Amino acid sequence: YLYNLRQVAPDTKVYGIIGKPVRHSKSPMLYNEVFKSVGYNGVYLFLLVDDIANFLRAYSSTDFVGFSVTIPHKEAALKCCDEVDPVAKSIGAVNCVIRRPTDGKLIGYNTDYVGAISAIEDGLQVKYNGSRTNVSPLAGKLFVVIGAGGAGKALAYGAKEKGARVVIANRTYDRARELADTIGGDALSLADLDNYHPEDGMILANTTSVGMQPKVDETPVPKYVLKYYSLVFDAIYTPKTTRLLKEAEESGAIIVSGLEMFKGQAYGQCEKFTGLPAPKELIGKIMENY
Ligand code: ATR
Repeated sequence: YLYNLRQVAPDTKVYGIIGKPVRHSKSPMLYNEVFKSVGYNGVYLFLLVDDIANFLRAYSSTDFVGFSVTIPHKEAALKCCDEVDPVAKSIGAVNCVIRRPTDGKLIGYNTDYVGAISAIEDGLQVKYNGSRTNVSPLAGKLFVVIGAGGAGKALAYGAKEKGARVVIANRTYDRARELADTIGGDALSLADLDNYHPEDGMILANTTSVGMQPKVDETPVPKYVLKYYSLVFDAIYTPKTTRLLKEAEESGAIIVSGLEMFKGQAYGQCEKFTGLPAPKELIGKIMENY
């Protein structure tokens, strides 16, 4: 599912995903498929990278046009860019780097949060059967984010921006406290989340790797607390339905899979990479069929 080397010409635009590990990523499959389907002259590579600063120093003057950034480089990527979009700066993490054609400068963005937040908003609209208005269905809601890493920061920032009241629950309390202080929210130790149910209809977003393949039997929260939540989101997309999501559905919550977040961040990156509107339907189809 990569690309045909014979299609690579001097004017072919070259992209790649920087990560370690990186082999699990679905991005090369997705972008090469999209480029081929829309007739865009580009290829997208796996880039197994130890030190992103060294890598970008060595390769930024070559023909690379843009990069996706994944674990564990999202926070380091921010420091390597010449300019950082204000949203990515507030989040403290970059998942997309574009080399500006006019001066070769590296510009950092974060497209993670848009994908997750709009998928959650869509999920809530389904429940309340409402049409999209200017007021986010997240406004005023109690929004609990599990985890305080790059993905946790993005979710917390996005939820706050939509007017939600944000609570960070993290295994290491100090990290939760730090993030809560940065965005203006409350902090909990993850162990205390079992007894935390100040109200019904809350939203829960898992941004840790607990429940990811191969440890699919794990879950970050016991089932009995899930009945207090109206919507549960899991950033994990392998498997598509985690134990957390299965138990949340059984408890009557709307569930939103990390696949939606993945698709949403891909729309944003695709537009930044090609300068064209993202073929959303095509991206959705490729990911659903994968
Ligand atoms: P990412 O950028 O993908 O969010 P990260 O920065 O390594 O990755 O953050 C991982 C998050 O998952 C952290 O909040 C981490 O909790 P700690 O701050 O206590 O390390 C959380 N996490 C990872 N493994 C976990 C586990 N087994 N149980 C609970 N939380 C876990």
